[in-house]
Amino acid sequence: MSVSVLVTGASSGLGLAASTELAAAGRQVILGCRSIPRGEAAAESIRASVPGANVEVLELDVASLASVRSAAGELAGRPLGALILNAGIQVVNGTQRSPDGYELTFATNHLGHFLLTQLLLEQLAEPARIVLVSSGTHYGPPRSGPFPGPRWASGRALAEGSTLDGSGRSGRIRYATSKLANIYMVHELARRLADRDVTVNAFDPGLMPETRLARDYSPRLQRLYDRLGGLLVRVVPEANSAATSGANLARLVTGPAQPNGAYVVGRKPRKSSRESYDAERSAELWRASEQLTNS
Ligand SMILES: NC(=O)c1ccc[n+]([C@@H]2O[C@H](COP(=O)([O-])OP(=O)(O)OC[C@H]3O[C@@H](n4cnc5c(N)ncnc54)[C@H](OP(=O)(O)O)[C@@H]3O)[C@@H](O)[C@H]2O)c1
Repeated sequence: MSVSVLVTGASSGLGLAASTELAAAGRQVILGCRSIPRGEAAAESIRASVPGANVEVLELDVASLASVRSAAGELAGRPLGALILNAGIQVVNGTQRSPDGYELTFATNHLGHFLLTQLLLEQLAEPARIVLVSSGTHYGPPRSGPFPGPRWASGRALAEGSTLDGSGRSGRIRYATSKLANIYMVHELARRLADRDVTVNAFDPGLMPETRLARDYSPRLQRLYDRLGGLLVRVVPEANSAATSGANLARLVTGPAQPNGAYVVGRKPRKSSRESYDAERSAELWRASEQLTNS
């Protein structure tokens, strides 16, 4: 049986670009998508640009613990060479809830991926790779520009969404906080898998103005963003097209291994924020996530 790569959030943006690169490198790619029609459209676009591409679509809504369990069940027994945990959202319109009642940003960007990883760990075919897609917003200002930084709380409080209101600014803080959670998970996972041949990394793709991440913003802001996208890629340091970042992300699976636990920007490991190295927070988040997901 051949070894596959699972990519979450593969229907657009970075996930689609990375899946295309992986397929072009001859990998068997499982597109984990919450919408089957959007997943099939992504698979078609990959087949159109990579003749003979080996891609399939798996129904997977990472915000729903039941969907994560069902998707993991579909994959039972299949060897997986890599997990690319990429699906992500930014919610700027109120406090939204997952089907399990958790704050939606945390549920999508962290909790679902935590459970998925727990359920698939035994199927990793070594040497294996796990990549969590984080973001430079975890640094906070001034590194993140005008984007507000994370505001950490216990794993349970973040899941409850009780520490912030429903304003757009709070939504951006929740996003940055979830991207800090990705790094905490990488550190704890790398520590826990130290006796296995599994490399775990956080990936920072840089600003990618052309993806659909800003879809919850007002139509006016989105139009402005769309118009300025090309310019931003040229003038903002570390801004990238989805294609460039997708190639960099795919390289974390197909290229030489980066140091275990490293935060990788583009193609190079770099120090993440000082607070991201807080081992107590990593351990607390892990314990809380186990309880919240019953895993
Ligand atoms: N764009 C940037 O500037 C930037 C910068 C740093 C990091 N990132 C990170 O890059 C990753 C990819 O984002 P993107 O920029 O490529 O945005 P995008 O085009 O909006 O892609 C996000 C993907 O996640 C999927 N998704 C959202 N919620 C999901 C759920 N509950 N279950 C399964 N899939 C779900 C979306 O699927 P649907 O088609 O179903 O909506 C889409 O395929 C995210 O983790 C984001 O935080 C982005």
